[in-house]
Amino acid sequence: EVEKSSLTVIGTGYLGAVHAACMAEIGHEVLGVDVDEAKIAALAEGRAPFFEPGFPEVLKRNLENGRLRFTTSLAEAAAFGDVHFVCVGTPQQPGSHAADLRYVDAVVDGLAPHLRPGALVVGKSTVPVGTASRLAERIDAELAWNPEFLREGFAVEDTLRPDRLVVGVTSPSAEQVLRDVYAPMLAAGTPWVSTDPATAELVKVAANSFLATKISFINAMAEICEATGADVTTLAAAIGYDVRIGDKFLRAGVGFGGGCLPKDIRAFRHRAAELGLEESVRFLHEVDAINLRRRDRAVSLARELVGGSFAGRSVAVLGATFKPDSDDIRDSPALAVANAIRAEGARVTVHDPQGIDNARAVHPDLDYSPGAQKACEGAHVVVHLTEWSEYRDLDPVKLAEVVHGRALVDARNALDLAAWRAAGWEVRALGRPRA
Ligand code: UDX
Repeated sequence: EVEKSSLTVIGTGYLGAVHAACMAEIGHEVLGVDVDEAKIAALAEGRAPFFEPGFPEVLKRNLENGRLRFTTSLAEAAAFGDVHFVCVGTPQQPGSHAADLRYVDAVVDGLAPHLRPGALVVGKSTVPVGTASRLAERIDAELAWNPEFLREGFAVEDTLRPDRLVVGVTSPSAEQVLRDVYAPMLAAGTPWVSTDPATAELVKVAANSFLATKISFINAMAEICEATGADVTTLAAAIGYDVRIGDKFLRAGVGFGGGCLPKDIRAFRHRAAELGLEESVRFLHEVDAINLRRRDRAVSLARELVGGSFAGRSVAVLGATFKPDSDDIRDSPALAVANAIRAEGARVTVHDPQGIDNARAVHPDLDYSPGAQKACEGAHVVVHLTEWSEYRDLDPVKLAEVVHGRALVDARNALDLAAWRAAGWEVRALGRPRA
């Protein structure tokens, strides 16, 4: 069993809340900290402030066994913890591509005067390379970096059974502290990469840049397929059999969104430019551009299906979140497309199994429907933008009875197009032939 440590997790968003609950789950005493009183109150009562499969169970279990507590006091956290995980957000700065580091800086500065002797501060937030060494000068404790690779929708699983653990440290004792924290994962054979903080910071942005590049690569191929009558889904499957390429992250569609990939590739470009290395990651500009072009393409396919203009048309949008099994709408391609269509004069009704409340708060001008079929009532075109499994189960025959026009854009290449066509629908998909 794990040797108990007293840990704090500062910042209880997706990353921090899941990390806190999972650290308690493996046996540590954990104090979760956030400035958001409502969020802390919810977590302390066992209510998850976001949708994440499996998280409510882990949260409740560890509140009940007493290993997990929450507070809004950074001073209390400093007095309690031997190890402090910094999990606050590093959003894109408004009007710039740079990462906004004010929350990370505030946590480190807030902890500094209260830390216990020998405490270790461990950054998990995604930051520009060089951040750890800059912050180390402001604190009388070792500062390590331990990037997090969890995916929303699989956050608990990814935290308890990670692909690898990467720690950037400046002393063997800090590495040992982290080995003790992650002892159950190490015992399970998880690869352990111990390195310097700069490398650890870079591992994270390099990984996300690679993933974004992979998606934009296949979406670039989709553009070529569209012009030549070829099928990108078959192409992806065929190249994916080569294990050097691999079949994961090759789903062509409306592209990547969310709170990580888009802002991380932009922040990386910004940081590289600061270092005089703009050229090294200039390709990420293309990755971003290809990704955004796919949104325009989804809009134009829908426009074409309604006869060239959205004015006075009704459009059903299936999906609001940036991916299924999440309620996260940050930089969601689905909502970008919905808003672009609305801006051209259509009435847009959006359905999403989990994301409606978040979407409505940010985009009150769109219409929302509590059911997928209901959203499609009277629609001139249905646009499928987030591949929730329930959309695969929609019956195109039944849906045909409620729509105004049997027209579908599958912007995620996840529906059974043959079944829709057999039910009389005119179908367009990104990167696929017309019939
Ligand atoms: C990502 C990384 O996967 C994770 O390791 C990192 O810690 C945070 O960023 P996440 O944002 O949760 O995780 O989502 P992910 O599942 O990676 O999907 C990102 C976006 O890419 C989604 O919008 C998804 O729809 C899109 N995507 C993914 C594709 O368009 N095609 C694919 O083949 C895969």
